[in-house]
Amino acid sequence: MTVNQILDVKGNEVHSILSTITVYQALRIMGERNIGAVLVIEDNILKGILSERDYARKIVLKNKTSRETFVHEIMDTDIITVKPDDDINYCMDLITNKRVRHLPVVSETKVIGIVSIGDVVKSIIELQENTIHHLDSYIHGTKAE
Ligand SMILES: NC(=O)c1ccc[n+]([C@@H]2O[C@H](COP(=O)([O-])OP(=O)(O)OC[C@H]3O[C@@H](n4cnc5c(N)ncnc54)[C@H](O)[C@@H]3O)[C@@H](O)[C@H]2O)c1
Repeated sequence: MTVNQILDVKGNEVHSILSTITVYQALRIMGERNIGAVLVIEDNILKGILSERDYARKIVLKNKTSRETFVHEIMDTDIITVKPDDDINYCMDLITNKRVRHLPVVSETKVIGIVSIGDVVKSIIELQENTIHHLDSYIHGTKAE
């Protein structure tokens, strides 16, 4: 299964912000959208990513305030992205080894979607369930539907 196939199911919507807003404003957007990260996109270019983890570690633990800190001050600019035709297992490897929970999907230079740890885990479980179902049918001699 590819990243494109995950996007086919979950859609291409991307919630993005500008780096000039405050962290508080960004957190409000995350809260309203019920998401754990927002992409910073300016002039159609992916500039950074801001996550709940950034807030916890770079604001709360540093005794800063979200209303007085701008997104560009704490956003992560070392962004790990995937391509539409990348495999889902490659995404899981990145999530595990690079310790990220959100992977922006970039085609050429344009962001065309985002996949999260939840999206990847859900797809992998579905794939494994399908495999188990087919093996079960094979072993018991019944035809898989
Ligand atoms: N049942 C499902 O289909 C499903 C899919 C994903 C997550 N979840 C659950 O939601 C909870 C949190 O999920 P998470 O840790 O994967 O992260 P999350 O809360 O950030 O993501 C939730 C959903 O929002 C999407 N999303 C996140 N940021 C986005 C952005 N900036 N623009 C557009 N879409 C964005 C993700 O791709 C994912 O589909 C977990 O409990 C997880 O199991 C369920």
